[in-house]
Amino acid sequence: MKVLILGANGMLGHDLIAVFNAAGYETIGADKPEIDIADKARIKDYIEQAKPDFVINAAAYTAVDDCEKNAELANLVNGTAVGFIAEACKEINATLVHISTDYIFDGHAAEGCTAAGGYKEDDSPNPINAYGKSKLLGEQELARIMGDGGKYYLVRTSWLYGKHGKNFVDTIISLGCSRPWLNVVNDQIGKPTYTADLAAAIKDLILSAPANGIYHLVNENAVSWYDFTLEIFGLLNIKTPVKPVSSSEFPRPAERPKCSILINNKRPHLRDHFDALKDCVRLLAVRAQ
Ligand SMILES: NC(=O)c1ccc[n+]([C@@H]2O[C@H](COP(=O)([O-])OP(=O)(O)OC[C@H]3O[C@@H](n4cnc5c(N)ncnc54)[C@H](OP(=O)(O)O)[C@@H]3O)[C@@H](O)[C@H]2O)c1
Repeated sequence: MKVLILGANGMLGHDLIAVFNAAGYETIGADKPEIDIADKARIKDYIEQAKPDFVINAAAYTAVDDCEKNAELANLVNGTAVGFIAEACKEINATLVHISTDYIFDGHAAEGCTAAGGYKEDDSPNPINAYGKSKLLGEQELARIMGDGGKYYLVRTSWLYGKHGKNFVDTIISLGCSRPWLNVVNDQIGKPTYTADLAAAIKDLILSAPANGIYHLVNENAVSWYDFTLEIFGLLNIKTPVKPVSSSEFPRPAERPKCSILINNKRPHLRDHFDALKDCVRLLAVRAQ
């Protein structure tokens, strides 16, 4: 079985390469500048030459705040280009696994945002920022090109962190070690997801070949960014005081959904996010030594 991973140099891409290599798949990785998914002729040609059985699209324009001022580029990379990839996959009868996000939802679900609340696979999207809109465009392009019963999996995930990329865990550790105190928002709630766990869950999805469609793959048990910070600092014994603040006290170019909890109703649940966090923090600590 041959697997092509697009966005192979990214945080999730790195772990996908490792997981599929370890599982004995013939694994090819591609990323820009060599392979730009927004270059229609190039990406179609590349996929059709490589002839993989599966294409996993982890390539995306992920700088959420920058997408506000570069909405056109975001729509091209996260939206239109997904259609280019889908067309090529359809041409060679490959299955496309496309990665999307909790940010396609508006975050108003489940007022009061309990751990049991959140978004199911078939809930209606309503993005509130340019990144979310561009990712929704990608979902729509995927469904439009592949059609009912087409060979695709749309995998939504949330709040990714891992060993190979700039992410919240890295950033908050470095801030915790350099600042006298921190403000962290406590009114955005989601499920932090470890890219190593997500990559393994994507491999399991492919292996078990369920019906095509939308899947939510996330580590379990939702927290706020504030709670998550306390968990990280607790594991590393960082004593820097952390003050919970509301999003309105922490303005950013892109509005974030308040309650972006994804509910996984269709696949075996990934482990509790805190167990995953412990593994990641242990690895980061070893790397820092
Ligand atoms: N990070 C999160 O919290 C999060 C949450 C939910 C869903 N997701 C989704 O999960 C997927 C993986 O995210 P990630 O955090 O691993 O992202 P990432 O670390 O930013 O990796 C994305 C990769 O795609 C590459 N890329 C960007 N534009 C490209 C283009 N036009 N052609 C080819 N490659 C291109 C990037 O290269 P450059 O770095 O050089 O631009 C990078 O190597 C994405 O679909 C993202 O939307 C992420």
